[in-house]
Amino acid sequence: MREILKTYLFLYTMVMPMMKENVQDALNKQMNREFYSSYLYLSMSAYFESLALRGFAKWMAIQAKEEWEHGMKFYKHLGERGAAVKLAAIDAPPLKWDSPLKAFEETYKHEQKVTAWIGELVNLSVKEQDHATNNMLQWFVKEQVEEEVQTNTIVLQLRMIGSDGPALLMFDHGLGKRE
Ligand code: FEO
Repeated sequence: MREILKTYLFLYTMVMPMMKENVQDALNKQMNREFYSSYLYLSMSAYFESLALRGFAKWMAIQAKEEWEHGMKFYKHLGERGAAVKLAAIDAPPLKWDSPLKAFEETYKHEQKVTAWIGELVNLSVKEQDHATNNMLQWFVKEQVEEEVQTNTIVLQLRMIGSDGPALLMFDHGLGKRE
């Protein structure tokens, strides 16, 4: 079985064009950014936990897990294409924010940045005619629309809540329903 798999992988890398160095570098960089996103949201989860906002904390812990999976999508794609996986140091995220609203404003801004980076990667894949990478990135293009809508909606709703404590607790309960 292992031999068959090895032969298959060998043949696969023979028919697939080698990934260009600049594409490899750009994908490795984005993999690191996705892992950083996971760190950032895990740190936010701990911050919400410290405020006893358990629903917010759960929402962010799930988001952190999703970001880790995003990083793994790049990891897998690089490996499947016979490209080098270069794991680099992950920056330390902030440890606290001024308010739940500020944390979510940063989340929304961060997601907008990720969308722009994915767009740049798509442009690069087109320029280098790397169709397999382009195809892989299309999943992220769709995902980013969802991520921006979700986080912006929470920002707008938190602005409506303002300093209304009971409303914030009700909102926390709603966020805690995320599976
Ligand atoms: Fe993986 Fe939220 O971008």
